[in-house]
Amino acid sequence: MKKLNLLILKYKKEEFNLLSLLEETVKVKGFLSFETLNYISKNLKIPLAKLYGMASFYSFLPTAKTGKYVIRVCNSPSCYLNGSQEVLEILKKFGIEVGKTTKNRKFTLELTSCIGCCDSPPAMMINNKVYKNLDKTKIWNIIKGLK
Ligand code: FES
Repeated sequence: MKKLNLLILKYKKEEFNLLSLLEETVKVKGFLSFETLNYISKNLKIPLAKLYGMASFYSFLPTAKTGKYVIRVCNSPSCYLNGSQEVLEILKKFGIEVGKTTKNRKFTLELTSCIGCCDSPPAMMINNKVYKNLDKTKIWNIIKGLK
């Protein structure tokens, strides 16, 4: 809790906005558990429902433990029309399925809205890195290259 207390202190000093506080908490704790959100709620006197609402709205604020690599495949129109479903099918061959974390806790797969690469679809993010113009070979090399 020491690192979380430091983050709460920074928030109180107005060095963070609430979204940044939750992002930083994810970096420290890995995800926003009920216990963590409750702790923040009590220490900052912010309604738990407000914190949970933010956490459940933003896909980059996980409320459950994720894999080492969080894959977010864009499913907005440009990517959808240019192969995002094929990307998902290829990932499925690696045992990586939408809404799930692999048993070895290496990968979590989510769908996401536009990630700003509409001119080079289909696109996905793995943690904070963006991959564009995906095809079978690229995806194969990307996934095989992740240790
Ligand atoms: S629609 Fe996929 S990146 Fe914009």
